[in-house]
Amino acid sequence: LRIGLVGAGNVGGGVIELLRMNRDLIASRAGAPIEIVAAAARDVERAKSRHGDDLRWTTDWREIAAAEDVDVVVELMGGTGEARECLLAAIGAGKPVVTANKALLAERGDEIFARASEAGTCLMYEAAIAGAIPVVKALSESLAANRIASIVGILNGTCNYILTSMEKGEGSFEECLAKAQRLGFAEADPTLDVGGIDAAHKICLLGRLAMGTPLDFGKVIVRGIREIDSEDISFAGEMGYRVRLLAIAKRDENSGVELMVYPTLLPQGHIMAKVDGSMNAVQIASDAAGETICYGAGAGGLPTASAVVSDLIDIACGRGNVPGDAAPLCKIVPAPEVRAHSFYMRMSVADEPGVLSRVSGILAEEGISIGSVVQREGDGEEPVDLVMILHRNRFGCVLSSVERIGELGQVAGKVKVFPVETFA
Ligand SMILES: NC(=O)c1ccc[n+]([C@@H]2O[C@H](COP(=O)([O-])OP(=O)(O)OC[C@H]3O[C@@H](n4cnc5c(N)ncnc54)[C@H](OP(=O)(O)O)[C@@H]3O)[C@@H](O)[C@H]2O)c1
Repeated sequence: LRIGLVGAGNVGGGVIELLRMNRDLIASRAGAPIEIVAAAARDVERAKSRHGDDLRWTTDWREIAAAEDVDVVVELMGGTGEARECLLAAIGAGKPVVTANKALLAERGDEIFARASEAGTCLMYEAAIAGAIPVVKALSESLAANRIASIVGILNGTCNYILTSMEKGEGSFEECLAKAQRLGFAEADPTLDVGGIDAAHKICLLGRLAMGTPLDFGKVIVRGIREIDSEDISFAGEMGYRVRLLAIAKRDENSGVELMVYPTLLPQGHIMAKVDGSMNAVQIASDAAGETICYGAGAGGLPTASAVVSDLIDIACGRGNVPGDAAPLCKIVPAPEVRAHSFYMRMSVADEPGVLSRVSGILAEEGISIGSVVQREGDGEEPVDLVMILHRNRFGCVLSSVERIGELGQVAGKVKVFPVETFA
């Protein structure tokens, strides 16, 4: 199988290394050698110095998409502009494509899946979701006989690294982010990761694959981890919870599929609460198989290359997937209608009589009942933290109460609210 590689950065470099490292093993599993015959990078001299000049290098991905001696195009340049053109050009030339580009597939996937389907060409993207974890194959092959009830993922290693570092008392959000950047777990520009957008791209693709939700990225509820501070982590700990950025796709038999990325409190004993550092995990609940959990490295050159090359082996063996309707279409539940098991609410309030009754009055008017309340003793001078656990409700009600509570004169700063899930 002759490969045209577009992009030779972290993942592309990993693919070059893995195909060299396990050349014979891969050839025996694929039934034929898998070889890169041409590769594209913007800075070819740098790419040659890193990966050798035995490949045919170019700065123009169009040459690769059109090359007669390229059987499969692997797109690893990232972004949603030229990457889209590259995939469409390769598909137009009748070539199977492999990509790790979750942003492109989540935001422009309808067009790309449709073109591949019309052309009868494979479009493989195992590497786009949770790096080395074989979740696309698990859902499309091993669990294909199941109706999937929910998918709960820790799909962003940067966020998980930051949250678990804060939990271990290693510093504030900013300090833990800076450490993650020093250690290579976070990009110089961490916006897509800490803003929850990267995880949302992935859950959008998983929702389509497992539950037939449309690729409508704007309908995914997305909240990143910037708002979580050490106090939230400490209160959560006192109440028996840990905070993780969860990406959730949950089927509600009456209303559709809830798609959401949110910092979420989980019972400390829950298996997903034990996923530490930069690791990823995906928990799938299905009707016949029951609970299935995959855990592993969600990013990095070689782990992500492992997923890319497994797709290449599938193509070589004739097991590549031409996209069809992934599952019967199912609508996405509108954000205000999405429910959580319960909610954590924290605010800073004046240390004076009557505050609690005003807050609970607003909650009662919104139809929200309170499960528990924690208030640390103050000196009567400084504002004190008031933390509540609210019973199961819709995001719409809870967020509207947050707005009203925030307007009370006795409440200082922002009222924070995060869902609590037990998955019981
Ligand atoms: N990094 C991970 O762990 C990871 C995990 C899962 C999925 N992904 C996805 O994999 C893709 C690649 O990520 P990455 O981390 O490998 O990115 P990266 O390190 O920035 O590498 C991108 C590569 O693409 C090349 N490139 C960019 N634009 C190009 C163009 N117009 N023409 C030719 N070459 C071009 C770059 O060339 P120059 O170096 O010469 O500029 C570089 O070699 C992204 O879609 C990302 O979301 C990454």
